[in-house]
Amino acid sequence: MAAGVTVLHRYEQVASHLRHLIESGTYAPMQKLPSVRSLSGQLHVSITTVLEAYRVLEDQGLVEARPQSGYYARGLEPQPRVESQLAVEDPVDVGMGEFLMRYLRDFQRRDLVQFGCACPNPDQLPSARLARCLAKVSRELGPAGNLYDIPPGCEALRVQIARRALQSGCAVGPEEVMLTLGAQEAITLCLLATCQAGDTVAVETPTFYGHLQAIEMLGLKAVEIPSDPVYGVSLASLRQCLEDVPVKAMLLCTSYSNPTGASLSDDEKHELLEILGRREIPLIEDDIFGDLSHAQHRPHAARAFDRRDLVLLCSSFSKTLAPGYRVGWVLAGPRYMARLHQLKLFSNLGSPVLPALAISEFLANGAFEHHLRGCRRFYARQVSQMADAVERAFPAGTRVTRPRGGFVLWVELPQGYDTRLFYPRAVELGLTFGPGPIFSARGRFRNCLRLCAPYWGPQSEAVLWKFGELLQRRR
Ligand SMILES: Cc1ncc(COP(=O)(O)O)c(C=O)c1O
Repeated sequence: MAAGVTVLHRYEQVASHLRHLIESGTYAPMQKLPSVRSLSGQLHVSITTVLEAYRVLEDQGLVEARPQSGYYARGLEPQPRVESQLAVEDPVDVGMGEFLMRYLRDFQRRDLVQFGCACPNPDQLPSARLARCLAKVSRELGPAGNLYDIPPGCEALRVQIARRALQSGCAVGPEEVMLTLGAQEAITLCLLATCQAGDTVAVETPTFYGHLQAIEMLGLKAVEIPSDPVYGVSLASLRQCLEDVPVKAMLLCTSYSNPTGASLSDDEKHELLEILGRREIPLIEDDIFGDLSHAQHRPHAARAFDRRDLVLLCSSFSKTLAPGYRVGWVLAGPRYMARLHQLKLFSNLGSPVLPALAISEFLANGAFEHHLRGCRRFYARQVSQMADAVERAFPAGTRVTRPRGGFVLWVELPQGYDTRLFYPRAVELGLTFGPGPIFSARGRFRNCLRLCAPYWGPQSEAVLWKFGELLQRRR
């Protein structure tokens, strides 16, 4: 073999042919691709080779497998956005109110299809294996497992988190990680570390209602920066807003945002830090969905581009392993870390050590990467199938996002709908959903709703169709 010449394996050649067919539009998004058997015959390769090729393309997010049906082309990356500056309104006090409480209480109901709940389906979680890890670490640690574990928290897990952070482009040591009670506490502590009551925090709109709840709880104000459901927050509008408003911090999901699923590109993450950095404004980066890319590799976090120690990255294992373990973390440099330790200590002394150690054990034996791979494929399929069904079942003129990671879909119904009014009717039909106004401090997005794909399946599909009929009737 000549030096420097790379010889592709047979399956890579097959994958390359198929990639070309998808990229050139020969197979449009959602079209069925040739069956494994027919490709094997046409290309004179084994069934195993074709399956391997499809596996590679699945990992790259270019195809999806549908049970009993075969392989389908997925949509390609969206075209680069054409930036336009959208109006930003004045900062407001936040009041998330009684409706949100009712909505959150409905999450506990096992009799409803939980399209409203951005939590993994418990049937998809590696609960038995985690329970074995918990039993093992509890046995090994003995009575020490019952003691306080003051910040920064369980070192074994912080080492694992620091190792994994490299996948998002962040080279950090365990001293740059502090454990928290889920991402929600991480966000709250970061807001406390960067702002004082009455200060203004920039958020995208629509944004995760948990961000607004934290802002409300701390007596802060929110300034809402318009965000495109496909492309994410408008940097032009942010730039304009910072000319007029004294923003103390920005709180943002940079990858696979909740509720839209939108992500910023690497260049945009870089630019975002430039815009904020010029005014020394810290970014509280919510990266909770970052690991759930539908392709083989996760995107960079904005923190990967941070040269000023101004990014505080918050995340948790709630979307991937066990929301009930309440294990999250902040990844931050020296500028904020000492203050974060204090605030965590003042809040609740520290996080429980046993769930942290159990997850550390799960990570250390390699089970997490395997589990994540399964989650990525699963959610890619769920999201795509659910979006297909929404397009068919909902009123004409409805638009739905098709995110490339995570598991939430943002649905825009034609103007005139008020999704809050449909909520009680949906519960009667047997499902929940996230009405648009809970994702805005100003109660915007009345004609929108968030749907979550973990509970998608043949049985829940029927309930979605009934909901679609209800919307069609408009009563
Ligand atoms: C975007 C986002 N951030 C933070 C959280 C809170 O996560 P945790 O359960 O880890 O506190 C959630 C949970 O729904 C979320 O969707």
